[in-house]
Amino acid sequence: MNRRAWIKRGGAAGALALLGGQSIASTLTSSEILKFNPRPLADPIQLNFNENPFGPSAKVRAAMTKAFDDGCRYPDSYSRQIVDMIAQKEGVPKDHIVMAGGSTEGLKVTGLTYANNGGEIIAARPTFLAMMAYAQQWGATVNWVDLDDKLTHDVDEMEKRISSKTKLVFLCNPNNPTSTLLEKNKLMDFCTSASKKTIVFSDEAYYDFIEEKNYPSMISLVKQGENVIVSRTFSKVYGLAGLRIGYLIAKPEIANKLRQNIVADTNILAISAAMTAVKDDEFYNFSLSKVREGKELMYATMDELNLDYIRSSTNFIFFKTGRDITTFNKQMLDNGVRVGRPFPPYTDWCRISMGTIEEVKIFNQTLKKVMS
Ligand SMILES: Cc1ncc(COP(=O)(O)O)c(C=O)c1O
Repeated sequence: MNRRAWIKRGGAAGALALLGGQSIASTLTSSEILKFNPRPLADPIQLNFNENPFGPSAKVRAAMTKAFDDGCRYPDSYSRQIVDMIAQKEGVPKDHIVMAGGSTEGLKVTGLTYANNGGEIIAARPTFLAMMAYAQQWGATVNWVDLDDKLTHDVDEMEKRISSKTKLVFLCNPNNPTSTLLEKNKLMDFCTSASKKTIVFSDEAYYDFIEEKNYPSMISLVKQGENVIVSRTFSKVYGLAGLRIGYLIAKPEIANKLRQNIVADTNILAISAAMTAVKDDEFYNFSLSKVREGKELMYATMDELNLDYIRSSTNFIFFKTGRDITTFNKQMLDNGVRVGRPFPPYTDWCRISMGTIEEVKIFNQTLKKVMS
């Protein structure tokens, strides 16, 4: 729905009222709109999936249009090209890379490969659930380790829990839904030591949003031959969530096993989009700067309302409403904003994804209204 159509609808009237009767003018120039492709305002606005509200960029759309003509072919030659490109980008040999139809497929395949015949996965609570949700279907159990009081992984406790039953340790850093980042030495020490005893899976979906300079990726341990698997995605900073493309990085003994279990794989449109997106620095930097700007606007509103929140290392914020999340969810939705689902045991906290600046402003006004 375009902005005008949205404004005509009842929900939009609410949004206009919320914005003090001011129209929701775009904060972008017309050339930025063409280049970066902001999503139109929807009713309700959806700030619940940690998507990038921009993209695919004009350059990526042009690349996909060109690749469309190869739609009758299998993607083999495209696949070889993207593996070459990622190998170069990450500084690893090609045999370390496993392409997948989104990193969710990578998570699922890892669970299938290592926890298929039972055994245990150690994971934080709460964290991103894809691997654990699937692994439970295959008879594996999950050894949940609560986050510490800073809402960060309790890696000391996670390490203590490693036993002969452990098939994998799942680490999501920065963590979804809390947006927290492990202190870098703690991360390095834990991954180095735990990977001597079991396989460590490091989900780095939000790595690009980390502000700390030279924060290490666990790809460095893969390069040293450790039992570490890293996942990355094109769904977040590159704005390609709907195209389904991501990848795993692991040493060849592990990568070969994982590759055999890939089912969905990816496709030429997604590959051509990803290959262009990686080179589109303008879009990449624009996405990061808009996430920064949006987060600052939300923090200011949360400060004004005296709400606790975590300073985020991702493209979303985890904040404490002090209200039951199911009630809060409904209150926000009734006012035209869809927020994140419940993340037990933090049932009076809420996860909110960054949107366009217009969406962020609507969220801020709605939050003020609902919390008043
Ligand atoms: C931590 C984390 N890992 C993986 C994913 C899934 O990404 P993809 O779109 O590549 O499947 C998400 C999506 O929200 C996520 O939050």
